[in-house]
Amino acid sequence: MKRKMKYPAFMGRECVLPMNALLGKEIGYYMAQLWGGRFAAATDEEAYEFNASISFDKRLVREDIEGSLAHAEMLSRRGIISKEDGEQIGKGLKEILSDVESGKLSVSPEYEDVHSFVEATLTDRIGDAGKRLHTGRSRNDQVALDMKLYAKRMAGQTDEALRDILSVLLHIMEENLDTYMPGFTHLQKAQPVTLAHHMGAYFEMFLRDRGRIGDLMRRMDTCPLGSGALAGTTYPLDRAFTAEKLGFSGGPTRNSMDSVSDRDYLIEFLSAMSLIMMHLSRFSEEIIIWNSNEYRFIEIDDRFSTGSSIMPQKKNPDIAELVRGKTGRVYGALMSLLTVMKGIPLAYDKDMQEDKEVFFDAVDTVNSSLRLFTGMLSTLRFRKDIMEKSARNGFSNATDAADYLVGKGVPFRDAHGAVGRLVLRCIAENKALDDLTMEEWKAESQAFDEDIYEAISLKTCVERRLTEGAPGREPMEKCIDYYKSYLADA
Ligand code: ARG
Repeated sequence: MKRKMKYPAFMGRECVLPMNALLGKEIGYYMAQLWGGRFAAATDEEAYEFNASISFDKRLVREDIEGSLAHAEMLSRRGIISKEDGEQIGKGLKEILSDVESGKLSVSPEYEDVHSFVEATLTDRIGDAGKRLHTGRSRNDQVALDMKLYAKRMAGQTDEALRDILSVLLHIMEENLDTYMPGFTHLQKAQPVTLAHHMGAYFEMFLRDRGRIGDLMRRMDTCPLGSGALAGTTYPLDRAFTAEKLGFSGGPTRNSMDSVSDRDYLIEFLSAMSLIMMHLSRFSEEIIIWNSNEYRFIEIDDRFSTGSSIMPQKKNPDIAELVRGKTGRVYGALMSLLTVMKGIPLAYDKDMQEDKEVFFDAVDTVNSSLRLFTGMLSTLRFRKDIMEKSARNGFSNATDAADYLVGKGVPFRDAHGAVGRLVLRCIAENKALDDLTMEEWKAESQAFDEDIYEAISLKTCVERRLTEGAPGREPMEKCIDYYKSYLADA
């Protein structure tokens, strides 16, 4: 690769964008960075690219400007910059933000990072006052702040998406208190449950996920701005003011070195997101199985399934498969950031720039997976008839037959053996326990009587399961009441 190493002198200046732009035209490209005074030679072009983060940190532009607005207001209130400069900076920053949001101004790639973009554009627009913005601040506390603000905003979105999936699950539960289906262990029919009960298991998972998001939001609610590069500053900053202005209810962070080097909140968030994906992935797996030709428990709405280019009969559960597949990249992001952080000395090191792409990718993946999965779930059609039929076959009432004998005084181990032999017989004759004649029951144990049929009916099997957390109507209704008041509160 041919390198353009001959940079003109502008690289040795501090943020002179108009001139950069001019000179850039002469040499074919230019770069804008905030430093350079102590450099005699320009950065190698490939090294510059390698170092630059603008291609991905441009998504922090809103947070960067919000942080700068608060910082500038504080500087002016404390008399560190003049009132006029403070006002000019505030006005200029607001204009940049509105121009970026309206699409009038784009965060262009020739800047080293989003911070350089904002400061250089500001200086370009308002002149010298713009150069005072960075007083008492470092990009280290600036980027720590931007990431925290962004993570807080994203956590809010994740929380909302979790709330949405919980409401959909609650709705399905309310409608299916007596939709019987087989419960599985080892993917083998085990005991009958209801669809409400099965959905309730996922409700619990996403409820815990929401709890985790709430916990980490509380923990990340402290403001690193004002920590400087690592050791605070000599300017009389009002850190409490900026923390409050930026909505950090925990006030300013307590240790400036920790503030610029802490990425725990991102790791916690990635860990919570990994769990969300794990839950979504298990749910996806069940959707895929239930949607298979063999099960046919559900039908996925056309809006959330796709076809095959060759097999005209196909209707595939692609959304569920993709959610299951995308789980890997979120786990990958968690591993990646844990590994980035594990060996770096205090305080800030450039390694930490690696937090962004993985975090952005993970948060996009989780929030879109949650939204799409919720859409698919809310439009699923449950084939209650097929679910119920499946619960009747497969001996999911065998435990209840054994429990019946226990009720008649037979020791459980003997009852287990007797019913096991009856199951073997039914398998050979290709029938269900419910199809056995009274003679056949009696041949195994005299303790069986006419009431065995009622005792092993699906309804009885489910309705007699009344322990807390079981699928019987009473415990389920109690659960639903709790979920309802939970969702009403939050
Ligand atoms: N792009 C950098 C990051 O993401 C911003 C902080 C730069 N600080 C520095 N000392 N070079 O971490």
